[in-house]
Amino acid sequence: MSSSALAPPRHVAIVMDGNGRWAKKRFLPRFFGHKAGVDALVKVVQACIDRDIEHLTVFAFSSENWKRPSDEVSGLMGLVLAAVSRYLAKMGAMGVRIRIVGDRDAVSDKLRNAWNEAESTTAHNTKLTLNVAFNYGGRWDIVQACKKALAAGVKPEDMSEAKLSEFMAMSYAPDPDLFIRTGGEVRISNFLLWQVAYTEFVFSDCLWPEFGERELDAAIAAFHERDRRFGGVKDAPVAA
Ligand code: IPE
Ligand code: IPE
Ligand code: MG
Repeated sequence: MSSSALAPPRHVAIVMDGNGRWAKKRFLPRFFGHKAGVDALVKVVQACIDRDIEHLTVFAFSSENWKRPSDEVSGLMGLVLAAVSRYLAKMGAMGVRIRIVGDRDAVSDKLRNAWNEAESTTAHNTKLTLNVAFNYGGRWDIVQACKKALAAGVKPEDMSEAKLSEFMAMSYAPDPDLFIRTGGEVRISNFLLWQVAYTEFVFSDCLWPEFGERELDAAIAAFHERDRRFGGVKDAPVAA
């Protein structure tokens, strides 16, 4: 069977890495790599809609990215604000529901307001949920879930994997089926830690601004080749 006839992954998570190197190759400041990265994202969102993917979660800014030079950080913040005003209407027209996952406390009021607007104006859309992980860390997510569970009065005897999952930032989404990292590095860099217990990983040397439909299809084809056992065995004899 061709891979296109197979069910698509319901949830794809992407570490959009390699913007800086893409710019460097062109003797451009890193900012231009991030700018090209936004354009790549818009195309990939459409490609995911075309492939009936339900959730796309993208790593846009990690808890650790504050360590970057302040001009790069402020450039990124400005770029995100500009991207919201430039693409929000288009995303809405495409049927995209936008959700922001991450610690909003540390971002500016302006950006927080833009996030709120992006979420509220797209809340009714159903084609694809775009989860933007911003000021996000997998460890932050686990800690904030624990804090919320404690604040809600969850007792130790009632705590379970399913219970803690209810407090994770993306409790509304199924766990990712496919994790893609562009840019050639083979690591998670504190992206979704809790949620990737049984996710299939695909690492690509492609730099994020160059990632498009062809690379997405290659990752989905690799996903379809995987034998997902979730700890069980395939073709297990039926118990007598
Ligand atoms: C990823 O690209 C985007 C962000 C982390 C915001 P990088 O900026 O990490 O690009 P490289 O890895 O330096 O090429
Ligand atoms: C991960 O990329 C974060 C994002 C893509 C937003 P980094 O470039 O920050 O990761 P490291 O530093 O190579 O691990
Ligand atoms: Mg990087």
